[in-house]
Amino acid sequence: MTVIVTGGAGFIGSNFIFHMLGKYPDYRIVCLDKLTYAGNLSTLAPVMENPNFRFVKADICDREAVFKLFEEEKPDMVVNFAAESHVDRSIEDPGVFLQTNIIGTQVMMDACRKYGIKRYHQVSTDEVYGDLPLDRPDLLFTEQTPLHTSSPYSSSKASADLLVLAYHRTYGLPVSISRCSNNYGPYHFPEKLIPLMIANALNDKPLPVYGQGLNVRDWLYVEDHCKAIDLVIHKGREGEVYNIGGHNEMANIDIVKLICKELDKPESLITYVADRKGHDMRYAIDPTKIHTELGWLPETKFADGIKKTIKWYLENRSWWETILSGEYKDYYERMYKNR
Ligand code: NAD
Ligand code: DAU
Repeated sequence: MTVIVTGGAGFIGSNFIFHMLGKYPDYRIVCLDKLTYAGNLSTLAPVMENPNFRFVKADICDREAVFKLFEEEKPDMVVNFAAESHVDRSIEDPGVFLQTNIIGTQVMMDACRKYGIKRYHQVSTDEVYGDLPLDRPDLLFTEQTPLHTSSPYSSSKASADLLVLAYHRTYGLPVSISRCSNNYGPYHFPEKLIPLMIANALNDKPLPVYGQGLNVRDWLYVEDHCKAIDLVIHKGREGEVYNIGGHNEMANIDIVKLICKELDKPESLITYVADRKGHDMRYAIDPTKIHTELGWLPETKFADGIKKTIKWYLENRSWWETILSGEYKDYYERMYKNR
């Protein structure tokens, strides 16, 4: 079995590659990644020498490069993680989001059509459903919830989802889609809430909480997400969407306070800053379908997962300090100075 994993030098894709190589010693895993600011080859160092692993630097929008790779590898499956993934960057500059997240998806599926595939899997997000009100805890996103996006990022992901379903209906491409809630864990790029707060707290820098910090996200440990995708690509039904989430809703401010507590840092580091434009209030996934059809349940409780994550950032300082010392500095200035 040969699996092309796009975006495998990023946060979730790299964790998925580690999971697959560990669980399926007879699979060949080919990582296709453009190595944007979010991709990091050092993340894949532990598997670079594995004879079942190959890394290819290419853009998923580059039709020629993608088709050449399909000719060489004749993949059985494609799992498409490659995307521009940060909401704040999409608000600043939507163009590259539409290019990678929509056109890149089209190119990958065109290659699947031309060369044949057993399964094309699209890694999507709960953000395609828009948001939920804080005062209706009974409301959750199901696979039937209408798409209702807020940001250029979520709109590009929803567009890609529609295209994937269209390729299934029109061309009979054997596709599946998973829509997951917020992930956390090792190798999370430090522009996102949890790693940003850990890194800033460790450096005694202000912890910039948007608005009042009351927005709620539904956090899932990254390994649980990877295990869910593994189940969907092997046992999930073609043409179907599966929501993935662990019923772990938390307000941003509570996460930030918890990080302060775990790191023994003062809450006085917390600084309330201007809110994100169009900021989604609450995400909450109903994972009943993947549980009843495929038997998936999250295994890591948030209390344990956040401790493991903090420990990882403490033990792997050079991984994130290298990122903070590069072009990230300009990004941080642009995004947070005078906010
Ligand atoms: P990430 O930003 O950490 O990594 C993205 C990876 O894709 C990077 O390695 C980058 O180099 C690569 N990439 C970007 N553009 C590319 C292109 N044009 N061609 C080839 N490679 C390219 O992202 P992540 O957080 O790991 O998210 C992975 C996927 O999961 C995304 O599709 C995202 O929408 C989805 N998702 C993320 C979360 C989350 O909480 N992080 C939750 C649900 C769904
Ligand atoms: O729900 C899944 C989505 O989760 C994925 O599709 C996205 O790729 C991923 O980035 C994530 O999106 P969010 O916007 O929810 O994640 P982020 O870490 O950027 O922000 C989480 C919350 O924290 C959000 O309410 C904004 C807030 N926040 C974020 C940052 C970076 C702050 O208050 N301060 C910050 O500095």
